[in-house]
Amino acid sequence: VGTQGLATRLAAKTEDTQEKLKTLTKTIDIVKVAGEDTARRIARQAHRRYFTTHVHSMDSFDRTILFQATPPLTIFVCSTTGQGSEPSNMRKFWRFLLRKSLPHDALSALRFAVFGLGDSHYDGFNFAAKRLFRRLKALGAGEIVGRGDGDDAHYLGLDGALDPWLGRLWAGVEAICPLPREIMPEDTVPEPVFRVEPAVGGEERAIEPAEERAMAVGDGSVAARLVLNERLTATDHFQDVRHLQFAPQARLSWAPGDTCMLRPSNPSSAATAFLHTMHWADQPVAIAGSPGLPQWVPRHTTLWHLAKHCLDITAVPRRSFFELLRVFSDHPAERDRLAELASTQGQDDLLAYCVRPRRTILEVLDDFPHSRVPLRYLLDVFPLINERAYSISSHAAGEPRVDLTVAVVEHRTVMQAPRLGLCSQWLRRMRVGEAVRMRVERGTMRLPDDARPVIMVGPGTGIAAFMAFIGRRREQARGDSLLFFGCRRSSADFLYEQQLRSWVDEGWLALFCAFSREDEGAAYVQRRIGENWRVLWEMISERDAMVYVSGSANGMPQDVRRAFVAVAVRGGGLSEDDALAYVRSMERQGRYQEECWY
Ligand code: 2AM
Repeated sequence: VGTQGLATRLAAKTEDTQEKLKTLTKTIDIVKVAGEDTARRIARQAHRRYFTTHVHSMDSFDRTILFQATPPLTIFVCSTTGQGSEPSNMRKFWRFLLRKSLPHDALSALRFAVFGLGDSHYDGFNFAAKRLFRRLKALGAGEIVGRGDGDDAHYLGLDGALDPWLGRLWAGVEAICPLPREIMPEDTVPEPVFRVEPAVGGEERAIEPAEERAMAVGDGSVAARLVLNERLTATDHFQDVRHLQFAPQARLSWAPGDTCMLRPSNPSSAATAFLHTMHWADQPVAIAGSPGLPQWVPRHTTLWHLAKHCLDITAVPRRSFFELLRVFSDHPAERDRLAELASTQGQDDLLAYCVRPRRTILEVLDDFPHSRVPLRYLLDVFPLINERAYSISSHAAGEPRVDLTVAVVEHRTVMQAPRLGLCSQWLRRMRVGEAVRMRVERGTMRLPDDARPVIMVGPGTGIAAFMAFIGRRREQARGDSLLFFGCRRSSADFLYEQQLRSWVDEGWLALFCAFSREDEGAAYVQRRIGENWRVLWEMISERDAMVYVSGSANGMPQDVRRAFVAVAVRGGGLSEDDALAYVRSMERQGRYQEECWY
């Protein structure tokens, strides 16, 4: 890697160039918390610019490299939790950076950049990235470029901010270690980062389907068998919400509030269509140059396995996909169109063509029949399937079972075929007895250690984590658990009604329901919060109650927050401003926690 291949290619050139090339043997390190896609994308672009790149995650990264005399250029890709705090898998690193014993020029040799991954719907938008950026500077490090603020709420998603930022980043990098003119990256198709090659010799063989799942190990996941898969909503309800239960085949521990990470596979029909579109027959392949390739991608496998289990071929392509596809197109009209879609001016075009209708990579490939990616570049061009996070609904007592509450995603768009959520559809189809791999990640919501009251607000699938909360509180024989649940109709989508009612009967739960589409008194949860201001305020102000808000966002978290501000106004006689400050201070103390999704 590095500049070696380039040096050979340019061997015939002048000594001057050779000299310049020496200065190019530089390394870029990319450190990420979450944001695998973004980190990989930056790595790919760095690679095209002849840098040796390493992608690390925050939790497994050797901090000493930052303190070397000439540290690598280091790019941090950093997400933020709903509360605006550091994600759990960067806490160690963050605590380290805050150490008083660090001299204030500790990082003076470091050149760095920070790209935040966030969502501007939240108050704490990119807080972790903002703090990281400030702290690195305070320790003497120099920024290559100003902080980038990725925003999921942007109409083009993260790419909206990432693309222009990358332009500035590379300009900054270029200023630090310039590339000689004759090797500008635009003109070259460098070797792929992960080279996929037909497997030769007898060593590799086609892999049996049963083996496929078992192979994807090394990411901390365990195998789990599906025990139950049932629909919770009435069949005439517009949405299929399911209760899935898994039996882990090895030790798996979690606390209420934690999330289960699952990586879905593509439907077989999509995998077949992909190989067909690419004019590839299934065959054994080997992946070379694979340090940095995530552990779960097998190094010796088949094209079918990659298409079925690894490549996210039904994702909406990002702009970089068009950029790469263009490089491999030798059809003038298609090339022009791809260049347009990949250009900064083409953002509206991309929005209309891809983002709004949720056109998939597979469909885009069909639209560009003459633009084909060589097999070797397969892993450079197509994104990998990401894990999805689901709140765990069980609390892991006795025989551990992982219960999930999953809304099956179906988007309505202008396209004729419905757009289906990859993971929820994969789960919907899954049959009892089938095995998956799963791992647990710490969630943002945590139950208190003591017996203070717990107020939970979880409309719709927001109830998922609270099922674990209530189960745990019951086991600990702790009372004062309040749940505000909302759904459309009691007869249609009242999730876990029986279980909830039995907890109420046993005296472990006070349940407040809001049905938004019932003829009589249609309401959202915030109405019930308002009606119960007296008891809520007493619990919050006198008994240090915890408040948790969870669910599909859609304005709900903001509305619920306003409802609690109103409770403080009525109950505490506070002014609007003071009440707002009160809720904010609860949040800072960790007494008001949100976990919401879009
Ligand atoms: P709706 O679908 O009738 O609008 C679970 O999805 C429940 O949350 C549904 O009853 C849904 O109502 C309701 N909901 C939708 N938007 C909301 C909001 N901003 N605040 C609270 N509840 C909301």
